[in-house]
Amino acid sequence: MDDTSYAIHPGNEQNMMDTSFKDVGRVIDQHLDGQQFFITCENVYITLTFVRDDILRVTMDPEKWPEMKTTSAIIRQPENIDIHETKETDHSIIESELLHVEVTYNPCRLNIQDKTGRVLSKESARGMGYKKNGEVIAYKMRAENDRFYGFGEKTGYLDKRGEKLTMWNTDVYAPHNPETDPLYQSIPFFITFRQGHACGTFFDNSGKTTFDIKSEEETYHFHAESGVLDYYMFAGPTMKDVLQQYTWLTGTMPLPPKWALGYHQSRYSYESEEEVRQLVNNFIDKDIPLDAVYLDIHYMNEYRVFSFDEDRFPNPKQLVKDLKTEGIRIVTIVDPGVKVDPEYEIYQEGVREGHFCKYLEGNHYVGDVWPGPSAFPDFTNEKARWWWGNKHQFYSDLGIEGIWNDMNEPAVFNESKTMDINVMHDNDGDPKTHRELHNLYGMLMGQSTYEGMKKHLNGRRPFLLTRAGYAGVQRYAAVWTGDNRSFWEHLQLAIPMCLNLGLSGVPLSGADVGGFAYDANGELFARWMQFGAFAPYFRNHSAIGTDRQEPWAFGKEIEEIAKTYIDLRYQWLPEWYRLFKEASETGVPAMRPLILEYPDDENTYQLYDQFMLGDHTIIAPVMQPESQHRVVYLPEGRWVHYWNGETYEGRKHHLVSAPLDTLPLFIREGAIIVHGPKKRSTAYKDEELTLYAYLSESGKASGEIYDDDGETSDHKKGEYLQYQVSVRRDGQDIYLDVDKQVTNFSPQWTRIQLVIHGIGHVENVLVNGEKLKDKNMNVSSTQVALQIPL
Ligand code: NOJ
Repeated sequence: MDDTSYAIHPGNEQNMMDTSFKDVGRVIDQHLDGQQFFITCENVYITLTFVRDDILRVTMDPEKWPEMKTTSAIIRQPENIDIHETKETDHSIIESELLHVEVTYNPCRLNIQDKTGRVLSKESARGMGYKKNGEVIAYKMRAENDRFYGFGEKTGYLDKRGEKLTMWNTDVYAPHNPETDPLYQSIPFFITFRQGHACGTFFDNSGKTTFDIKSEEETYHFHAESGVLDYYMFAGPTMKDVLQQYTWLTGTMPLPPKWALGYHQSRYSYESEEEVRQLVNNFIDKDIPLDAVYLDIHYMNEYRVFSFDEDRFPNPKQLVKDLKTEGIRIVTIVDPGVKVDPEYEIYQEGVREGHFCKYLEGNHYVGDVWPGPSAFPDFTNEKARWWWGNKHQFYSDLGIEGIWNDMNEPAVFNESKTMDINVMHDNDGDPKTHRELHNLYGMLMGQSTYEGMKKHLNGRRPFLLTRAGYAGVQRYAAVWTGDNRSFWEHLQLAIPMCLNLGLSGVPLSGADVGGFAYDANGELFARWMQFGAFAPYFRNHSAIGTDRQEPWAFGKEIEEIAKTYIDLRYQWLPEWYRLFKEASETGVPAMRPLILEYPDDENTYQLYDQFMLGDHTIIAPVMQPESQHRVVYLPEGRWVHYWNGETYEGRKHHLVSAPLDTLPLFIREGAIIVHGPKKRSTAYKDEELTLYAYLSESGKASGEIYDDDGETSDHKKGEYLQYQVSVRRDGQDIYLDVDKQVTNFSPQWTRIQLVIHGIGHVENVLVNGEKLKDKNMNVSSTQVALQIPL
């Protein structure tokens, strides 16, 4: 058969280049079996699986009934639900409680709707199909105003409409082009936003995939180089619902240890114990908070993983211990490449026990990375994962609780930048080529590392940072966006990148603060620190050979600004931590695009240069040189300027003043935000919490407090506290209600200070209905501060 024998089925989207495309054809047979609907088509086999009432899996295989295997992204089995089929003359309707799927017979096309008639995904005239070279493709209809969010770690604006995106984990060193694609992570998941409602699509294929929403036509498509066409639809209807549905399937991020949310200092590299001690002393002397110092590749003995260079780091255990007494942790880098060295134990063991990637013929794959020729563990094999994970006892025995996985695309110093695609992976007994599994490598390394660390940390929560990943990576790791540049453009990119990572299930992400490659200057650094203080993951990192980038590197004025914003990060930690607890339960990230909270407001749909923390704070960083002002969009409601207490009307753009030491921050009226004290690291106690109440026009505000020990897994046994707090003003009286919903944890703090914004006098204060007798009150013209005993 030659290419031309593959006819394009009726449809108007002719693409002359695409002569080998073959669509599914007409339906020959179909039947419902439990919650699966099997369709035999002229050219393919299709299975529709109702995974949940609101999640549908579509699988198409040109050759046989698709095997209903899942990739490592998926952690759930289908729930037991009732499905009904209604047969009509030319189509069938299959329904769950929430979904309504119409399957036309000639040709076979899917129209996936919810029960209200809202279209989630309608196939275009072309439908699904495949090409002779093994590619599989799905063509979908697109409405004029559809918006597309998610896609993991991608450059560009917030809404990806009009872009063509590729998923193929790639080591990209300091790209000049701000539209560089692909990058280190591949999360083939996106949210379609249509007329105020959202639905999700997850194309679960770990080989190279492409999403084309560029086409001028009223369609978009996604395709994979090989494999079966296997995707999931999530019904929404809100973006938060989609995130909940997607992270139900692929997992949420476990609650990170508190220290992971503090300020982290890194450099490629702090090269000796002495240098690290000096660095830490500087932080202490300057009273700048710090939770972690990173050791990049120079800590190792000639880049051998699981080793320390004994000259540079003669006593790592003592170093880790000493730093810990200051409340500071060490995070060590671990790359996947294992130096080929017959006298190196890890290499010997890996070879002897068969843990490294091999060709079909049995010879090892060897690629060049930092240690020179290196072998690569086959993380698709459970035994290799277990072996590698277990090796991390080397670090945990030294008191290390944080690991940084780098180069795990995997990066190789060759033309393709990665492993030979013909290498075979064990894939837990179902061998596949690297070409098919490439995008899983980094995440599986993360799984191995995270699980290994967890085992050896005796109930303490590990922290893992990874560069590469796939859908589900959030179960194991935080993500940083790789090698950016100390350029304003790269600061600008960081917001939409982190926002879309959050909309792809990854709540803990950040870009190297100050920029990695090239030299930062004081102004850029100050602005970047301001953004970093409100990015989920807050790490300053810079490359070898570039100017130093520690908070004091740019002189006194910039140091003070850096310190102010690092301090501020620590004051805001109770909010961050509570929001990460929420993310661990719902998948909804702490750092949010405005559209997540204001889906009815079109001004939010492409807003990529400001964002929210939770549902109450808007952060509008300055990202241009020599700017003293910026435009901020405030959605409906009234908003209070965090620094000067002024009130701003919502649904308006405002030009706000933002001199170099000012990050514009706005709090929604009606919110209570919770602050802790300034402190040197998360290891220090919060003796008092401060509740800042911003009363709405009707005199009300509410918020939440969450706390636990911050480092063990006891919170999973219910050892935490959760309070709902609300404040109401009635004339000159204030009613504070603290609803202690869960109290299985005794916090360090014993007092609460309540600061009520926008009022200058209070007569009576009633706490849970009881009059506060000893009213310890501090009044200024704009606020009233009260001490509340607990
Ligand atoms: C590449 C990483 O992206 C970077 O952060 C790191 O410093 C270098 N590798 C050296 O390990």
